[in-house]
Amino acid sequence: MTKVITYGTYDLLHYGHIRLLKRAKELGDYLIVGVTADDFDKARGKINVQQSLMERIEAVRATGLADKIIVEEYEGQKIDDIRRYGVDIFTVGSDWKGKFDYLNEFCKVIYLDRTDGISSSELRAEQQSLRLGIVGTSPVVEKYITESKYVNGVDAINAQYPQYGLDDDKDSLQNGYSYLLKQVDAVYIGSSPKHHYWQICQALKSGKHVLCEAPIALTEKQSLELFKVAQDNNCVLMDAIKTAYSMAYSRLLLLLKEGIIGDIYSVDATCTSLRNLSNNSWDSICEWGPTALLPVFDILGTTYKAKQIVSHMDDQKKDLFTRVTFVYEHAVASVKVGTGVKSEGELIVSGTKGYVYVPAPWWKMEYFETRYEDSSKNRRYFYQLDGEGIRYELVSFLQTIRKGKKESYIRKNVSSEICSIIEDFYKGTDFIKI
Ligand code: CTP
Repeated sequence: MTKVITYGTYDLLHYGHIRLLKRAKELGDYLIVGVTADDFDKARGKINVQQSLMERIEAVRATGLADKIIVEEYEGQKIDDIRRYGVDIFTVGSDWKGKFDYLNEFCKVIYLDRTDGISSSELRAEQQSLRLGIVGTSPVVEKYITESKYVNGVDAINAQYPQYGLDDDKDSLQNGYSYLLKQVDAVYIGSSPKHHYWQICQALKSGKHVLCEAPIALTEKQSLELFKVAQDNNCVLMDAIKTAYSMAYSRLLLLLKEGIIGDIYSVDATCTSLRNLSNNSWDSICEWGPTALLPVFDILGTTYKAKQIVSHMDDQKKDLFTRVTFVYEHAVASVKVGTGVKSEGELIVSGTKGYVYVPAPWWKMEYFETRYEDSSKNRRYFYQLDGEGIRYELVSFLQTIRKGKKESYIRKNVSSEICSIIEDFYKGTDFIKI
């Protein structure tokens, strides 16, 4: 029996795929099809695959051409599969010509002519693009414009009229904003946090989806109200904390849930960046607070028993440095944020069996370590992060909208609790000034 193997993503299965599978099948008696896992695709830079792994597997199965379907999850797996299944022929389309010649050592390699005029990328691009209005003037806004170019299906409309991010008179701000909303399907908001609430509210009430830098509002009540408005208008409201969308961060959360370091007793996160403190810059708590608070609330939850905020302010009443500590039933946490004080930007999660160490800058997480008393058990985890995570965030936003999903990567209670901490900071609750 001649066994043939072929691999692909098979997103939005099309005629080119089916023709390839048919010819692959004709090369032998038994066809194995490797479908790439979502994470593997992301790691090799294919970030906007539209269908889930299960949907893609089902589509390949429905062709009736595959005798066996496997999932391709890691670099180097092809050699393993060829050996494991006793494969005689490896085949792919001619767009890969030469790329897999190294497999000749293990089996015969055949490149089949690629079908002209069709590809998953083209099909994705043909779907109606999401017109995304970019609102705000902070430096990160530029990055969203650049990163949107990597995401098929997002058409960024650069509406960086300066007034959108500044403290101008509210009427002219609102008029400009209403005009923008008429031209888009969704907005990314990177304006000053004091504008977030009304800008989100107005967008949602006009039926536009919103991706907004956290905090989405300056009080917990307002944030809950915004999620309600989103629900009533059938719109997506998502926090733009890019760390949340990185593969390393989501893997870390899963490993912690599995108990890789035992019961967790503390989370310590530090985020600082020295800034030229102009009038328009954000406070440290708004600039870094949401990012630093994210692992605390994701890992320990939002029901702490007590907290304390300690801040050092400048003459303009902006915090140069803030530390927030939390006491939970069985754990403690602390976050340190600063735009006028520099520190090591690391994340440490301590447990009964060991701890997790994420080196600076942990919020651009590509790598972490689990460390134990017996250091021979230490493990290192690497995940590629392109574009600081912004492009993954845009892909998640697009997919959440298209699939009509209710919950996004950052849960509503986490988003609202972040707003509640910011509220207490400004109100001076549980607050000490140094
Ligand atoms: N393929 C083909 N003819 C096409 C498209 C794909 O023969 N018009 C083949 C590829 O060469 C590969 C397999 O189908 O062997 C799976 O390809 P995949 O990368 O999933 O499909 P593409 O349409 O090329 O996807 P993308 O546009 O995302 O790269």
